[in-house]
Amino acid sequence: MRLLIHRNYDDACAWAAAYIAGRINAAGGALVLGLPTGSSPLGVYRRLIGLYEEGRVSFAGVVTFNMDEYVGLDEDHPQSYHRFMWDNFFSRVDAARENVHILNGMAEDPAAECAAYEEAIRAAGGIDLFLGGMGADGHIAFNEPGSSLHSRTRIKTLNTDTRLANSRFFGGDPGKVPGTALTVGVGTVMDAREVLILVSGHSKARALQAAVEGGVNHMWTLSCLQMHPHAIIVCDDAATDELKVGTVRYFKDIEGLP
Ligand code: GLP
Repeated sequence: MRLLIHRNYDDACAWAAAYIAGRINAAGGALVLGLPTGSSPLGVYRRLIGLYEEGRVSFAGVVTFNMDEYVGLDEDHPQSYHRFMWDNFFSRVDAARENVHILNGMAEDPAAECAAYEEAIRAAGGIDLFLGGMGADGHIAFNEPGSSLHSRTRIKTLNTDTRLANSRFFGGDPGKVPGTALTVGVGTVMDAREVLILVSGHSKARALQAAVEGGVNHMWTLSCLQMHPHAIIVCDDAATDELKVGTVRYFKDIEGLP
């Protein structure tokens, strides 16, 4: 696992966006990307939009699979992840609608929807690069603590911490946050050829410590990355507050960062 510690969130996002654009260009414009929602990736999306506007990357041939979606919110709900992705990214670049895949939180048969999603990922040749964030409890996508590290796309119950954290998008009322979501599994993320996770801020420091310095553990599902052959965590200084000084020095040294 690589850990790239940048001075601040902006630098981390600039690095991540340049990396993703580089991968798309190296693949001749045809890459299969896994994508997240949340506050963490917003800076990366802004940078990617900038690179697109400068003509340095195109998304026309990029196939995307989003990580998750709330159950019970339709595509047009302001807090649905469909709306988040179209408002913050897809509509501002040259993404082709037919290349965008997001789980349907209104599916009558959630299990069938999840199985079809896994099949669509397989049919696309698998995910080349999965971009993600991390919850304060160490979750990746909506794989809450205790999720099987072999899990596949499925319906998950959201815990109180996650509903509290996400209530900021629902007028501050955790009761308005849907209680369940459809999410790719830890195993689905692990199947990607590369995984790139953005972690920012002191509120994520405890989880980052567990994921990087602790053992592989289903209570901190991001720790699965220790078993991935090509995993990169890009973070800011604040997120490293709970890491050992020696760990921070080690990763800064081998990555050549100040
Ligand atoms: C939600 C999403 C995750 C995301 C997490 C952290 O739970 N399902 O994919 O990583 O929130 O979000 P933020 O980046 O806003 O802290």
